Amino acid sequence: MKVSLYDRCALHVGIPCWEPRTWWVVPKDTGGDTGPMARRPASRSEISPFHVMEVMRAAEQREASGAEVLHLEVGQPATAAPKGVIEAAHRALDEDVLAYTTAGGIEPLRRRIAEHYDYWYGLDIDPDQVVVTVGASGAFVTAFLAAFELGDRVVVPSPGYPCYRNALQALGVEVVDLLTTMETRFQPTPELLDTLGPVDGLVLASPSNPAGTMLDAAAMAAITGWCADRDVQLISDEIYHGITYGDPAVSALSADPDVIVVNSFSKYFSMTGWRLGWMICPPRFSNAVTRISQNVTISAPTLSQLAAVAAFDCHDECQASIERYAANRHVLLEGLPKAGIDRLAPADGAFYIYADVSHLTDDASALCTSWLDELGIAVTPGIDFDPTRGHHYVRFSFAGSTEDMQEAVRRLQNWAAG
Ligand SMILES: Cc1ncc(COP(=O)(O)O)c(C=O)c1O
Repeated sequence: MKVSLYDRCALHVGIPCWEPRTWWVVPKDTGGDTGPMARRPASRSEISPFHVMEVMRAAEQREASGAEVLHLEVGQPATAAPKGVIEAAHRALDEDVLAYTTAGGIEPLRRRIAEHYDYWYGLDIDPDQVVVTVGASGAFVTAFLAAFELGDRVVVPSPGYPCYRNALQALGVEVVDLLTTMETRFQPTPELLDTLGPVDGLVLASPSNPAGTMLDAAAMAAITGWCADRDVQLISDEIYHGITYGDPAVSALSADPDVIVVNSFSKYFSMTGWRLGWMICPPRFSNAVTRISQNVTISAPTLSQLAAVAAFDCHDECQASIERYAANRHVLLEGLPKAGIDRLAPADGAFYIYADVSHLTDDASALCTSWLDELGIAVTPGIDFDPTRGHHYVRFSFAGSTEDMQEAVRRLQNWAAG
């Protein structure tokens, strides 16, 4: 079929605009650029936004207008990096040229990370298996590129951290949504995985965001065994390890040395803005991961790497934050049911409580907006974490101060009585 210039405009965008000597298209999404022949953003970029950012923006606007906000939406520690890390950063600024590092990261840091696996899990990890990355976020992109082909089918449990799904989609990988429920503690099981047909990968998080639930050693072994039997590559997000309220979290590496583990300095070590994380890779991925890291980021931030070596001497300071999270968790678990919010996922770890609010609303985003407007409490609606059922859920983050948690509970109880 012959397509005229006019038809081509119409096919592309529906809005042809003629100019002398040239023709313009006004694409649906130009990123704001409507210049001559402006090229459309690639369709791979048409992924969901991160809705929690909208909540944070609305909360900021409210604060800018002079009103106060209790922040139960942010998924990050309210504290600075441990003192030892900050001192090490000052020293590095004074003494180091802060050049690029090798793609895998500086040797002292890779060694400390490897030792950490012995200290926490009794595991013997070769520092050569450690790759330092730009946060866990950078580790995911690297791991996904190294492990999956275009069109591979990768399981992502819902509810789950939205960036797994969105990054995989942008990379041309088919996301296989696994709907988990309170019955399986919002975690995958071999039985649930069996329902999905052939798949190539699984992304797992224990403790998870938003549910905070964990897999015990037996459940973790069941999942790693299921993956190993089917040649399914497991990528285990262990970013909330260290932030637990009962049993310590189990690393997938304890069950199977062939998984890819992702972790970060963002949460336990309270270093979100330092943009530093790491992966533990089976040796068969070493060359692939090095090539990708070299070409995508060259290296993780050098200042952060030099400073993070000291993080492993700062466990006391990190533990003080965990005690505050535990107190905050107690305040919410006691107080939310008295506000009629009593269908809560067991918060084994991380700093989140995922609540079923289907008895209160069919639109959790609207509920969160009204809580922000009327009560000054910022909470995240579930749609970020579960596009199909998230309208019935909200996530409370208890990473903030205990006073804020107490005040939030008080306001929600008054609202419920109200
Ligand atoms: C489960 C999970 N994984 C990864 C990340 C991203 O972490 P990073 O700051 O290390 O990129 C987050 C951030 O909130 C998260 O909740």
